[in-house]
Amino acid sequence: MSITELGYVRFGVSDLEAWQTFAEEFIGLEVHPESEGDRLYLRLDDWHHRIILDKNPANDLIGIGLRVAGAQEFRDLKQTLKEHGVRFEEGSTELAHDRKVLELITLEDPAGNPLEIFHGPRIDTHLPFYPGRRMFGRFLTAEGGLGHMIIKHDNLNEMWEFYTLLGMRGGIEYQISLPNGQAFEAMFMDCGERDHALAFGLPAHGRINHIMFEVDNFDDVMFTYAKVKDKYPITITPGKHANDQMFSFYCKSPSGFDVEIGYGGEGAKYQSQYHVSDTYGHEFVGGAS
Ligand SMILES: [Fe+2]
Repeated sequence: MSITELGYVRFGVSDLEAWQTFAEEFIGLEVHPESEGDRLYLRLDDWHHRIILDKNPANDLIGIGLRVAGAQEFRDLKQTLKEHGVRFEEGSTELAHDRKVLELITLEDPAGNPLEIFHGPRIDTHLPFYPGRRMFGRFLTAEGGLGHMIIKHDNLNEMWEFYTLLGMRGGIEYQISLPNGQAFEAMFMDCGERDHALAFGLPAHGRINHIMFEVDNFDDVMFTYAKVKDKYPITITPGKHANDQMFSFYCKSPSGFDVEIGYGGEGAKYQSQYHVSDTYGHEFVGGAS
C-alpha cells in the first residue's frame, strides 16, 4: 500500500480571525506559535501542523496532503504514476519548506482536487499538543491520519481507479434512497487504520463536503456539540454511522463546508459491504452534507 494516511490539508479561508475562534475556542485545535500574517497552522497532535489556513477568498479546500512512508516509497509511487501516464509536478525545495515536509509532488485527481503527495512531515515533539480549550481526552490521529474528508467527485469509477492506483482500497458503502425519489451512492477509500481517509458521492461545498476529526473520549463529542450548537449551524444532528460505526455530529465551519466531530470509529474492513441507512440519529438539518 502506498498512501499511508491523510497527513495534512490546506484551506483557503477569507476570515482567518473567525477561523481562529472556531478552531481554538470551539473545536479545541491548537494554533502553532509559528503562525503569522496571512497563515494559521492548526494542530491536532505533535505534528507541526495538520491544517494550513491561508487567507484567500476561495473558502475551499486548496490542498490534500497524502503521506507515503519514506524516500523509497515516494520514488516508487512516482514511477507508478509515470507508467500510468498520470501527470505530476516535482515540488521545489521552497515548496517542501513551506509545507514542512522532506519531499513532495503536486497533482490533481480526476475531479480536479489538488493533491500533495509527500513523505517526512515535521514532528514537533518539543511542543506537545496543547488544545485550544479544555478537553476530556485528545484527538485521535496516529496510524489513522488526521481524520477523513468527503471531497468533490465527477465520476465515482474514475475516482476509484485513481485512488486505487495510489494504493488505497475501498468502494461503495452506502446506497441511499431519498424521500424525493432520488438515490445516491457514496464511496469510501481507506489507507492506514481508519475506515476511510477520503470519500466521494455527496454534494460538495466547492471541493469539500466535510472534514472529520476524531476524539478518543465520547464526552468530547457532546462537549463540543454543547459549545457549538448556539454559535454555528448544526447540519447533521448527533448519531451513529453504519459504515465506520462513528458516533458524531456535523456543524458548519466559517467557510461554509462542514466539520464533523466523531468518536469510536472502526478500522477499515477487509471485505466490502454496504448500507441503506445510518445506524441511528444523524438527521440532516441543513448544509451541503
Ligand atoms: Fe464523515
